[in-house]
Amino acid sequence: MSAIELRALRKRYPPREPGGAPQDLWRGLELTVGEGEFVAIEGQSGTGKSTLLHVVGGLDRAYEGEVLVLGERLRGLSDARLAALRHARIGFVFQSFNLLAELTALENVLLPDYFGDGVPDAERRAREGLARVGLADKASSRPMALSGGERQRVAIARALLSRPPLLLADEPTGNLDARTGEGIIDLFRELHRDGMTLLVVTHEVRVSRAASRVLVLREGALFPDPRLEGSA
Ligand SMILES: Nc1ncnc2c1ncn2[C@@H]1O[C@H](COP(=O)(O)OP(=O)(O)OP(=O)(O)O)[C@@H](O)[C@H]1O
Ligand SMILES: [Mg+2]
Repeated sequence: MSAIELRALRKRYPPREPGGAPQDLWRGLELTVGEGEFVAIEGQSGTGKSTLLHVVGGLDRAYEGEVLVLGERLRGLSDARLAALRHARIGFVFQSFNLLAELTALENVLLPDYFGDGVPDAERRAREGLARVGLADKASSRPMALSGGERQRVAIARALLSRPPLLLADEPTGNLDARTGEGIIDLFRELHRDGMTLLVVTHEVRVSRAASRVLVLREGALFPDPRLEGSA
């Protein structure tokens, strides 16, 4: 079984002006990600990288084509089944963190426990997760009191709470200084070594180097990384 399969995936946005033609974001994306692969996706702003992660993560259901995630055909799932798949088996790190301002770092990490079917031993795991991203001492801080990089790390700890087999991350090192970014990349390497499947959108060559495969989203299609061509 593959972790992710995309077949003729298209995303249509309404016309920019009334009476205009609808905008097709992609020409029909094709992708197979095997279990345990670490795939990096690069591409210019506006090519639809975040949109792609949202579709794979079951957050955006308005698409054409087929999407299979962890053996499930997303289109066939009821809202409840899709939510269960998301909560238990897919970790999502958003480009904009999506932390709740009124909650502490620890409570933000625990959100999947509140909203899903519950995570065993959630608080201990949440504290371990915060320690793993170097934030053991910030458990009681609210997002306003954290730097951009610290917020990003809280978001990563939250995505890992349910120990999902699949992690989707949108520019996870985008707001981090070089050293903190390196720590996150090391964490991703470790997760990959432990068998997790990772699909990571990035502009950073250091992230791509840690990946087992790099793809570029360009002109509405996914291409192998040109820098690696001929090197295999
Ligand atoms: N609701 C919407 N209605 C119309 N167009 C939209 C909508 N949401 C996104 N788009 C368009 O879809 C395209 C892709 O957006 P997306 O955020 O996926 O790009 P991206 O590759 O992640 O960019 P970045 O690198 O800047 O994060 C953009 O041109 C955007 O304007
Ligand atoms: Mg984006």
